[in-house]
Amino acid sequence: MSDHAISTLLDEDRRFPPDPAFAAQANAKPEIYDRDPDEFWEAEGRERVSWFEPFTTLSEWELPYAKWYVGGTLNVAYNCVDRHVEAGLGDRVAYHWEGEPGDTRTVTYAALQRDVVRMANALKELGVRKGTPVAIYMGMIPELAVAMLACTRLGAPHTVVFGGFSADSLSGRMVDMGCEVLVTQDEAWRRGKPVPLKETADEAMADAPGVHSCLVVRRTGAEVPMTAGRDRWYHELEVSDDPTSCPCEPMDSEDLLFLMYTSGTTAKPKGIVHTTAGYLVGVAATHHYIFDLKPETDVYWCAADIGWITGHSYIVYGPLCNATTSVLYEGTPDFPDHARWWSIVERYGVTILYTAPTAIRAHMKWGPEYAAKHDLSSLRLLGSVGEPINPEAWIWYQQHIGGGRCPVVDTWWQTETGMILITPLPGVTTTKPGSATKPFPGVVAGVLNEQGERVEQGGGYLVLERPWPAITRGIFGDDGRFRATYWERFPGFYFAGDGARIDADGDFWLLGRVDDVMNVSGHRISTIEVESALVDHPKVAEAAVCGRSDATTGQAIVAYVTLKGSEEGSVEMLDVLRNHVAHKIGAIAKPANIVFTPELPKTRSGKIMRRLLRDVAEHRALGDTTTLADPAVVNEIADRAAGSPADDA
Ligand code: WTA
Repeated sequence: MSDHAISTLLDEDRRFPPDPAFAAQANAKPEIYDRDPDEFWEAEGRERVSWFEPFTTLSEWELPYAKWYVGGTLNVAYNCVDRHVEAGLGDRVAYHWEGEPGDTRTVTYAALQRDVVRMANALKELGVRKGTPVAIYMGMIPELAVAMLACTRLGAPHTVVFGGFSADSLSGRMVDMGCEVLVTQDEAWRRGKPVPLKETADEAMADAPGVHSCLVVRRTGAEVPMTAGRDRWYHELEVSDDPTSCPCEPMDSEDLLFLMYTSGTTAKPKGIVHTTAGYLVGVAATHHYIFDLKPETDVYWCAADIGWITGHSYIVYGPLCNATTSVLYEGTPDFPDHARWWSIVERYGVTILYTAPTAIRAHMKWGPEYAAKHDLSSLRLLGSVGEPINPEAWIWYQQHIGGGRCPVVDTWWQTETGMILITPLPGVTTTKPGSATKPFPGVVAGVLNEQGERVEQGGGYLVLERPWPAITRGIFGDDGRFRATYWERFPGFYFAGDGARIDADGDFWLLGRVDDVMNVSGHRISTIEVESALVDHPKVAEAAVCGRSDATTGQAIVAYVTLKGSEEGSVEMLDVLRNHVAHKIGAIAKPANIVFTPELPKTRSGKIMRRLLRDVAEHRALGDTTTLADPAVVNEIADRAAGSPADDA
């Protein structure tokens, strides 16, 4: 976060106390903060989910690995679907789905159960059993949630790869996890254009020889190449949808549920491990209290993509476990026009909306008139996630979308934490624009200074002090990296990689990443990942990447590139390299601009000084340059940066 943004946060003194009418009906009461963490999670574990065999021990913690609800057995699909049908809720809508072109589907819990059974039987036909790793590469259609639930029904761990990722990103993840089966779709709709998912999946499978079968869901109806013996159309498989044909596999509390790959500070994404019981209890409990969910009456919409952790926890597993009626939307907010989201809120009577600051800022830029054209009076609660929300966006959201009457919950968490950890509780917490306020009940957070001493009031590094149920169980296949990334900076604490301040009321203000991870439109991208994609191009000798502040996307990616030999930078080369990065990683990682330079600023030992490049990118006065091998280099770069063409991603 820029110094300017931080000082804006520190000056923020607006307060929004809970509305008494909201508080009277809220799921959370002030006493919730008095509860003992163990007692709280014990009760949540017993009440929030249904067990085949109850757990015998609440938790075990052998730093850095936690276990929760030890000794229990349960099934996630049973908890998210079957038990609701058994309880007579089969006719309740699970998802109001809206396709980008305007087609719609209403999926009740009874229909969802049949769909999940059908998909699970189809996966069985392709050889999926308990423990078979499955990759899922799809857009936002009901079959994506169905495929995830079908895996959990069978006890097969999944990894969902966001549909915007490249073939290389997909194959890298499939190889790392050892996936044997891939579920994808012909094409997805995005901003009025088809996205060729199956074609990209074909490219990825060529580099992931362990994938022996591919199940293809028909979405757009396009002709796509099918490889005989490997690829099967989902709609052509004749399999039963009778729940008794495919019972829910009893899983141990600590069995692997899924991997979610996320960027770290090296070029290789980390496979973040989540297991069964702690994750499910954690996401269901937080969803219940933070969104004040009333399953009989609420229409809940989390506008994230299921391909990210937010979608896993708060579109699929948390909401379905709580028998929620949700909205699921396939496309972008600007198709066919900037009012699309607000027409959806009006059409389905959405009561709870959960989105990211980058989306809010995009709507701000388009102007409040689009929201004003629609009746948004059904909304009663708003949420934000993914990056620090600037007070201006918070207030805009509260006024223009929430009509000034809805509590706003700014929720801090991570792929690794699985569930929301720092957040207001609506009806209880006095909110402050830009502050995620307090740790969730049963969660203990703190701020440490450089020396690892506790900061009671002021800034430092955010840490978590005891495990919570949904904490990651590690990085898949890389114990050393898990320990080094999260546990060694401050021994005994989980180090989140975020800066934070605590104010006089004990409220937390999140200040963004303190490592080499950028946050672009709420997506985590590592500087080194983009650098290695750039140097992968045959004409690039060296590259250094950093983030700079951007009014809409939070951060934007700036790359400094030295070309080989006598190559000169040009507008054409800029396009070539941007597209190369999109091809290697995905369009989200395209640099917003590239500065071509004959040399990068390095220390005498050859380390690139990214700090100086960040100063250049932010148009700040250059920091200390005395350790540079050649101090003239950075001035030359600053001159070039001032004259270089910028581009919208
Ligand atoms: C950032 C997304 C400030 C933070 C759920 C974290 C936030 C990273 C907030 C995790 C928030 C997320 N305020 N920063 N409310 N929420 N972040 O893994 O830097 O995609 O470390 O998980 O996003 O991103 P991830």
